Amino acid sequence: MSGRIPREFIDELLVRVDIVDLIDSHVPLKKTGVNYVARCPFHTEKTPSFSVNRNKQFFHCFGCGASGNAISFLMDFSHLDFVEAVEDLAAFVGIDVPRESANFHAGPKKEALNDLYAVMEQVAAFYVQQLRTGDEGKKAVEYLKNRGVSGDCASDFMLGYAPDEWKALAGRFNQNLLIEAGLLVSKEGGQLYDRFRGRIMFPIRDKRARIIGFGGRVLDDSLPKYLNSPETPLFHKGKEVYGLYELLKKNSKPQRILIVEGYMDVIALAQFGIDYAVAALGTATSQAHLDLLFRFSSELVLCFDGDRAGREAAWRAMEPTFSSLKDGRSCRIMMLPQGHDPDSLIREEGLDKFTERVQTAQALSDYFFDYVSTELNLSEMEGRAQLIGKAKPYLEKLSEGVFQEMMFARLKELSRSATLTVLDNTAPVVSRPKRQQQREPNRYSSARTAIALLLQNPSLADSVEQKEIDWNGLEFRGIELFNNILQVILAKKSVNTAVLIEYYRDKAEEKPVKALALLDLNVSDDKIEIVFNDALNRLLEQGREAGITRLQAKAARQELNVQELETLARLFANK
Ligand code: UTP
Ligand code: MN
Repeated sequence: MSGRIPREFIDELLVRVDIVDLIDSHVPLKKTGVNYVARCPFHTEKTPSFSVNRNKQFFHCFGCGASGNAISFLMDFSHLDFVEAVEDLAAFVGIDVPRESANFHAGPKKEALNDLYAVMEQVAAFYVQQLRTGDEGKKAVEYLKNRGVSGDCASDFMLGYAPDEWKALAGRFNQNLLIEAGLLVSKEGGQLYDRFRGRIMFPIRDKRARIIGFGGRVLDDSLPKYLNSPETPLFHKGKEVYGLYELLKKNSKPQRILIVEGYMDVIALAQFGIDYAVAALGTATSQAHLDLLFRFSSELVLCFDGDRAGREAAWRAMEPTFSSLKDGRSCRIMMLPQGHDPDSLIREEGLDKFTERVQTAQALSDYFFDYVSTELNLSEMEGRAQLIGKAKPYLEKLSEGVFQEMMFARLKELSRSATLTVLDNTAPVVSRPKRQQQREPNRYSSARTAIALLLQNPSLADSVEQKEIDWNGLEFRGIELFNNILQVILAKKSVNTAVLIEYYRDKAEEKPVKALALLDLNVSDDKIEIVFNDALNRLLEQGREAGITRLQAKAARQELNVQELETLARLFANK
């Protein structure tokens, strides 16, 4: 990634985009009154409680509480991080994202990355065409047919064929880009030739549908069976999984994700109806993989072959798995019968049986304790001590919470140990206080009304500025926030509610600001200014009263200093 995205650009973007158009392109909206509604994409519901407001450029679900601006929508809906969401939003509006120059940054430039994505796309299309119409493609189609891959499935996964030539790509596409994309290799003496030759090609797409790498399989028994793209600016093997884009296209919130080993496993499973499988790219499952996948589902099922290598791989996955687990996330371990991989197994026993295996896969905790206690004699003290020695380091990796406590409790039980220090040190899990109803007795307090109206109608800031208010000495809850928002509005060139929400992202005031931006005050357009001025005047009045009261109380105890006396005088004068 190159330099920072300038703040002003983000503001401008949020003013230019129309959130109604944006959301409508993902979730069809219906107009009702001033709002547009739909069934909420973030939780399951029968009647629509998801509403989008064009004036505020803001969405909100009354059912699950999801809310935010266009950037937040893309982050949540398309599972993007902040920068990715800004990029997608800019693409939606049709503008480029500028970057602040960052000389210290050595990474490739944005344009260069775009060129790389483009060449990957062209090459993938070329491979598809070679599979469908090339002379050699027939052999590849035959191979796929023999392995039971349907035409639909091949096109869902954009399967292709790399002809068995040294320069099929080199003669057709920009050489420098091909080299950077990892599609050419150079022989000694500088001769360049295609990396993938005579192979079935599996494009690896990221969650935004961009092709970042390829895997390629030979059609016979020759070695290496699979070749993968090397590390490139687009492709980082330890962080990506195969099949994620195809999975999310079918279901953006899968109940669970199955992690398997191979390309062909993902494809066979999808064809048989298991459209929630992905494959780590020929590497062990890493914590980056798990963290990535936990963004889309709270349950991961790790599938391993039933042989010795599979059992060893399962145990090696414990470490990253434990590090990525926290409350609300769960992992299961699924061991296949000896001699099978998911591809062969689902073809043999069908969808229902395979699904049952997934659903009844062993809970991580059971798998873990089974594994650590094999070959230990727990009826002897030595065995139980060894158990603690083996298990504790893993349990300590778990983040604090109910799950960790339960795992320690289990270890304590199995080892019959009364003094498991870590367990006893583990802070008790404090159950979060139930969120109190935010509604105050006076729902339309002057502070709430004034702040809410200002957030929802930032142009009111002009009239506040004209009042030339003396904020000194005003003490009242709410005034500080009001003033803070006012300064933000005045400092920005163009501003709407969405820009303000953006400004407060990840700041302490984010929650109250969002809540107030949503507050429905039921004020008709022609009354906004009157109601606002009225609330502001009351707010200022309360601020003065509070300031006066405090200073007077202080004066009763001690002498006020000059500054305080001045403030007090001004407060009286402004009354
Ligand atoms: P497997 O050897 O288990 O192959 O490798 P597979 O998936 O069952 O493939 P088929 O059914 O013979 O076609 C599992 C995964 O390991 C990686 C690939 O990602 C493969 O899908 N692998 C394997 C390589 O990267 N290179 C290899 O030479 C072999
Ligand atoms: Mn296989």
